[in-house]
Amino acid sequence: MDNRSFQAMRTEFVPLNGVRRTGRRHAAYESFTGSTHRHLINAGVFFRAILAIALLAACGTVNEAALDTSVVARLSIPALLEPTFDGAGIAHYDLKIGESRHDYRQTALTDTYSYNGMSVLGPTLRLRTGDSVVISVTNELDEVTTTHWHGAVVPAEDDGGPHSLIEPGTTWIADFDVIQPAATLWYHPHVHGSTAEQVYRGAAGLIIIEDDNSAAATLPATYGVDDIPVIIQDRDFTEDGQLDFAIDESGQGKIYTTLTVNGTLNPFVDVPEGLVRLRLLNGSQARIYHLSVEGADMTKIASDGGYLASPVALEQLVLAPGDRAEIVVNVGMESATLVDSRQGRVLELRPNGAASGTGLLPDKLATIERIPESEITVDRSFDMDDERYFWQFGPRWVINGVQFDMNRIDFEVQLGDTERWTLSGDDGQHVFHPHQIQYQILSINGEPPPPEESGWEDTVLVNHERDVVIAARFNTYAAEDTPYMFHCHILDHEDLGMMGQFLVIDE
Ligand code: C2O
Ligand code: CU
Ligand code: CU
Repeated sequence: MDNRSFQAMRTEFVPLNGVRRTGRRHAAYESFTGSTHRHLINAGVFFRAILAIALLAACGTVNEAALDTSVVARLSIPALLEPTFDGAGIAHYDLKIGESRHDYRQTALTDTYSYNGMSVLGPTLRLRTGDSVVISVTNELDEVTTTHWHGAVVPAEDDGGPHSLIEPGTTWIADFDVIQPAATLWYHPHVHGSTAEQVYRGAAGLIIIEDDNSAAATLPATYGVDDIPVIIQDRDFTEDGQLDFAIDESGQGKIYTTLTVNGTLNPFVDVPEGLVRLRLLNGSQARIYHLSVEGADMTKIASDGGYLASPVALEQLVLAPGDRAEIVVNVGMESATLVDSRQGRVLELRPNGAASGTGLLPDKLATIERIPESEITVDRSFDMDDERYFWQFGPRWVINGVQFDMNRIDFEVQLGDTERWTLSGDDGQHVFHPHQIQYQILSINGEPPPPEESGWEDTVLVNHERDVVIAARFNTYAAEDTPYMFHCHILDHEDLGMMGQFLVIDE
């Protein structure tokens, strides 16, 4: 059953059950956590059980309890982790990854992974351009992990890729200078073969880099008030309320049925009237979102690597796994809603009547000097493909015909060079992400990119109808011992081998 038919059945289900968005649903929810006796005498639950059985018979697996979560809930906002400065002015952050439990409003609390004891996900790290930072990551899980700073321009040994393993009970320390402009990045585990599962269990968080860009000074910037983190992830739950994880070995990656934002199902957030900034992150394993805003206008102000040259009004925004976008929504007196073309409601923005938010949308946000093609001295191509042979059960997920091998360096870049990379894919969806660099898109299908894709990027959607050519300068860090990764950010594909590694040589 595809998602659309699930949605259809789900909409029918509510009126049949006779339960509206009122306290009765809460009462029914409480009965799951109350005595079994109350289960038996609760007619709502009884009818639901009958319907769930009917649904199960009709389509295999439907999580009965998940239907209760159509009640809206206040969006949870990940805590902000500010640095502590030592005598030398170095900014210190401490992260601990471990097991936790989160209330997804299922039949039971859900076992999760998280950072710093949060119920799910991790705190938002606030970094400042120009700072020297030291981030310690302590592994309190029972399994090996890593923590990678996605989108950050950092030395390879501080990048947290698959070579920087953190054994259980040990601490890994990354230290680097923040040499890039204001941007929304994120962090997540990157152990080869278990990246998808560790992220799915809840190990991920946002990074906000701030700088002194005065052009952007009037934008909404009060975290959790008019500057809202929006980590979008899809999930499935088992009958006993636990996360149901799977790797899709032969297709487009695992798509789950229930949307969560910052771990909240069906969320709303109170916002002031006026401009509200949303920092969108697609932290999903494989789902691609087609987002729009109902009841207000949406303007994109930043791509993966920072501000666009100017704000761009958009009807729809495509967000592939790993992608970020910052948008500004002009909230009026009524709610505005962020929606996905397939899943519907993602997040409702409710004006709370408080003093209208400050913030003016500037005409210009940043100077983005286009990388001139005359500067390019090296061309490479990357073809992401699922190779299918009749003697094999499933496809092999490859880039240029080879699967990831931790002991093979796929290519070397000369420090100081500017390179042009041509990205292509088979008839599925792929998302190309190299570490270390922010790049510019030179063309999409031979055409110059639209303004909303003309900023700095580290993650880009590629398919057989979307050939993308990018350019990047390798003028920051040499990496002669520890390689940087490049891979598909559909996490199933990455874990199944659609990844490679490169060095940056200074000779
Ligand atoms: Cu978001 Cu190599 O990763
Ligand atoms: Cu990355
Ligand atoms: Cu892929």
